[in-house]
Amino acid sequence: MAEIDTAALKANFAEVAGHGPDVVAQYFYGYLFLRNPETRDMFPPSMAKQRDRLLGALVRIVTDVDNVGELVPYLEDLGRDHRKFGTLAAHYPAVGEALITTLRHFSEDSWTEKLQADWTAAYGIVADTMSTAAQKVDESEPAWWDAEITQVDLRTFDIAVLKVRTQTPHPYVAGQSISIEPTTLRPREWRLYTPANAPGGLEIELHVRLIDGGPVSTALVRSASAGDKLRLGPPIGQLTLEPGPPRPLLLIGGSTGLAPLKAIIDQLARDGGRPTHLYFGARSTREIYDRKDLELLAERYPWLTVVIVISDDIRWKGPRGLLGNVVAGPDWSDHDVFVCGSPAMVKFTVAKLIRSGVPENHIKFEDFGDA
Ligand SMILES: Cc1cc2nc3c(=O)[nH]c(=O)nc-3n(C[C@H](O)[C@H](O)[C@H](O)COP(=O)(O)OP(=O)(O)OC[C@H]3O[C@@H](n4cnc5c(N)ncnc54)[C@H](O)[C@@H]3O)c2cc1C
Ligand code: HEM
Repeated sequence: MAEIDTAALKANFAEVAGHGPDVVAQYFYGYLFLRNPETRDMFPPSMAKQRDRLLGALVRIVTDVDNVGELVPYLEDLGRDHRKFGTLAAHYPAVGEALITTLRHFSEDSWTEKLQADWTAAYGIVADTMSTAAQKVDESEPAWWDAEITQVDLRTFDIAVLKVRTQTPHPYVAGQSISIEPTTLRPREWRLYTPANAPGGLEIELHVRLIDGGPVSTALVRSASAGDKLRLGPPIGQLTLEPGPPRPLLLIGGSTGLAPLKAIIDQLARDGGRPTHLYFGARSTREIYDRKDLELLAERYPWLTVVIVISDDIRWKGPRGLLGNVVAGPDWSDHDVFVCGSPAMVKFTVAKLIRSGVPENHIKFEDFGDA
């Protein structure tokens, strides 16, 4: 692997991308779909908005092949996860050929035999790791789980709580997320959502916030109804309880970032409880979309303290301000801390906690920005 010049691969792609990311992606997909028409149906019907979702990610990963040792667990997950698209071992060479043909086309005179050999070798290593991991679980694990929406509860103008029923139990752990395709409403558009209950049965609760202009969240909040079909991919994420001696917990969630924290509380309750503070933050009282449940949980579990923090509503009698500012007051240095919400909220809160003395290795976080 030492002989692969990854710096040259990155420089070559930067030169190719200079032709315009849309133009390059269009060529790549055009070539792939023309030569392998069966792959077209794996991708969203309209690819205008996200043309480089695969191509951009693919190149970033392949040009990082000198870190392959560190990347192996991620690539194995990615390979297993790709089964939900219908990806088979035979598709990997097809994508590799489309990639290299695209790069050669746009590189023109700067294309060399060495570049061709290095791209081929780097892609081969990554593709082999992914497809071997996929084949290993082909017999033992479904490629996806079929499910159906059973209930839609529109809690605020832009947040819905959905109940979903799977046909067989989904193997997630409390705090993990699941890639979901709303098969009826937005076929072949996959997005991550996080169960708000612990696993075990067939029912999953999802909290979905509408993102302006976002196709999947808009469909789930505005148009979903009981009976709509979904497909669920394998679980992902590390926002989970660790084995070992339990420390008290501090859980911090902004808006629908509450979902994984509720799943963790549900799991703790099944395991006998543990001293836990839950801080939930929203801009206005109108956005406390799960208030009844939060009050119920605080009442039911003596080990749980719930604090609601509102940033922009002067009528709120409880703590007011940004979650990060409010939560960083007390000393949490002996707690395990979980933070979840928008990218801005997570970044700010984690920085505040570290500055207030919480050891970095006590903090786990997940943001709901780009996967
Ligand atoms: C690990 C993970 C778990 C997630 N779990 C949930 C969940 O339980 N509930 C939920 O409502 N959403 C969740 N999301 C976000 C979700 O996957 C979608 O990105 C979101 O619903 C928007 O999809 P869309 O198709 O409507 O818009 P897209 O076209 O996919 O997204 C539009 C843009 O909005 C950004 N965005 C998405 N969510 C937020 C946010 N909260 N704050 C700021 N920017 C955002 C995206 O990064 C993207 O750039 C999660 C994301 C990740 C990475
Ligand atoms: C080395 C090989 C590959 C790598 C590194 C790779 C990587 C990725 C990554 C990181 C994503 C985005 C994450 C996601 O949406 O889940 C993605 C999406 C996707 N990949 Fe791959 N991939 C590879 C090969 C393939 C192959 C062979 C196929 C099948 C033809 C394929 C089909 C898809 C599809 C359908 C998507 C979703 C695209 C979208 O939503 O627009 N990938 N890939």
